[in-house]
Amino acid sequence: MQWVDCAPSHTLRRPSGGTLVGRHLVHYRPGMADESFDPSVYKRTTREQWDASGAGYDAWGATIQSMIRPSAEHMMDAMGIEKGSSVLELACGSGAFTQLLAERVGIDGRIVATDLSPGMVALAGANADRAGLTQVDVREMDGEALEFDEQRFDAVISSLGLMFFPDPESSLRSQARVLAPGGRVGAIVISGPAANPFFSVPAQIIGARAGIAPPAPGMPGPFALGAPGQLASLFEAAGLSNVAAQTIPATIRLESVDEHLRFLKDAFGALHMLMRSMSDDEKAETWGAVAEALAVYQGPDGFVSPAELIVCTGAVD
Ligand SMILES: C[S@@+](CC[C@H](N)C(=O)[O-])C[C@H]1O[C@@H](n2cnc3c(N)ncnc32)[C@H](O)[C@@H]1O
Repeated sequence: MQWVDCAPSHTLRRPSGGTLVGRHLVHYRPGMADESFDPSVYKRTTREQWDASGAGYDAWGATIQSMIRPSAEHMMDAMGIEKGSSVLELACGSGAFTQLLAERVGIDGRIVATDLSPGMVALAGANADRAGLTQVDVREMDGEALEFDEQRFDAVISSLGLMFFPDPESSLRSQARVLAPGGRVGAIVISGPAANPFFSVPAQIIGARAGIAPPAPGMPGPFALGAPGQLASLFEAAGLSNVAAQTIPATIRLESVDEHLRFLKDAFGALHMLMRSMSDDEKAETWGAVAEALAVYQGPDGFVSPAELIVCTGAVD
């Protein structure tokens, strides 16, 4: 089975049975739905993990922004986000998408950018202040527990966040509730592992060497909503209408494999978490194996790896 998961706060299954949630190994029955999964524990480790890796993720903001920009533009067009729009952003991280939104809505627009991780919220706030984005208000908030009145925003969006929510359908229902009439919901997620070797290959190699098997279907993680049709079905199940989904290339371009390894090490704490039972020598050997496997994407133009995102939008009736 392909290694498909490595969520930032992640629940990791060992082939022998048992689930690692943060630092805890809890019981699980192979082949069964994971009854031991506890969303509150998962969220606590998610928060801790993004707090820890937020600065590293933020340092690669330009790389992330160049990956998401085509999808972001497509999504904002499809949702009719324009000058003056009022937008709620969930899972904003350090603000890579927030900045693109701010360009779009202009100074007369309004963005409430939220994230579960206080560390990320602090980074997003500092980035918005530094860029003079007075239309951006940043708040700590769980994307599954929205603290707003009904019918308030023209749009609710999330970029690379919804797949980490334990109950994304319920979150989408809540997102619809805070929309003004005619409002739109939009989400960007990463598609499947085969289309995203820049991350799935390292995750597979590290997971295999650490003896950690992929999570069961239905559990949160980077590729949790990436199967064809899955995100659109979720939007429809949440009661949204005019649902449209599109896959969009998000090619990664860096100078070299070594630079890509620095990106992975800095921005994705989950990879370190997978490795935490390894010795320093084992870690070094594992990163060597990752570099070797990814060398196939090194060419005359540097490191160029395919990547693919899915953009889905829907409306409230
Ligand atoms: C990969 S980052 C995406 C950041 C940003 N949106 C971007 O496009 O670069 C994932 C973010 O999801 C946030 N997150 C995970 N679960 C969340 C939840 N339940 N509610 C809100 N944010 C959450 C994490 O804290 C992290 O900042």
